[in-house]
Amino acid sequence: MAQVIAAIQQKGGVGKSTLLCALALVLARAGDKVLVIDTDRQHTCMDFHDLADPGFDVYAETNEDNVTEVVDRLRPKYDVILIDSAGIDSQMIVYVAAAADLVLIPSGASRPDAAGAIRTWKKIKQVQAISGRPKAVQIVLMNHNPAARVTANVSEAYTTAEAPLYKAGLPSLTGFKEMHTTGQLPEGAAARHLHEFIQALRADKLLGGRRGKTKAA
Ligand SMILES: Nc1ncnc2c1ncn2[C@@H]1O[C@H](COP(=O)(O)OP(=O)(O)OP(=O)(O)O)[C@@H](O)[C@H]1O
Ligand SMILES: [Mg+2]
Repeated sequence: MAQVIAAIQQKGGVGKSTLLCALALVLARAGDKVLVIDTDRQHTCMDFHDLADPGFDVYAETNEDNVTEVVDRLRPKYDVILIDSAGIDSQMIVYVAAAADLVLIPSGASRPDAAGAIRTWKKIKQVQAISGRPKAVQIVLMNHNPAARVTANVSEAYTTAEAPLYKAGLPSLTGFKEMHTTGQLPEGAAARHLHEFIQALRADKLLGGRRGKTKAA
């Protein structure tokens, strides 16, 4: 049974697709059978998949009416299913959240991104209250400068809102941009941060797959 991980943020351009493409490739390379369900009409993850020889599958024939059924049907065939979503408030993100074990809310270090992340988190808490899913939700800082004052300010805003900001994220590095033109994993500093992020998720039992111990709910 696959663990289902979704990237959801009502605000666009925050790193949802970048995070999921990177996760998909790392997990596939580690030997997991990985499916990416791309519910965004921009098809960023599908384009990434088509660019190289990724070793993971992609499925993009979803809509609000079938996404829950598609996830249920495909879960037994994979170790990990990653679901990308469009950066808008929609009924689709409710269905995607309810289908997920873990929701990651990517967010850059800016006020508008933080406002979008907090709105998204509150919405997902409502989904949790109704459906008992997702089991876990974490805000992930993307495309940020860890040393910048704005990053500290945004982190404080999450603390004040009692929102779950994850301890690891993916800072602003060219390697993460290049992924979308090469179809490959980044090298150098970006590769190190990606590795640390994934190690942290595994250590916190938020990431399963064949190498992790987390069981899908
Ligand atoms: N850690 C990072 N370092 C550098 N660039 C990044 C990082 N994360 C994301 N980006 C860049 O930011 C831009 C937006 O990222 P991405 O497409 O992943 O966001 P998104 O939330 O999926 O957007 P959309 O809402 O349009 O689907 C892309 O150009 C991407 O390469
Ligand atoms: Mg996207």
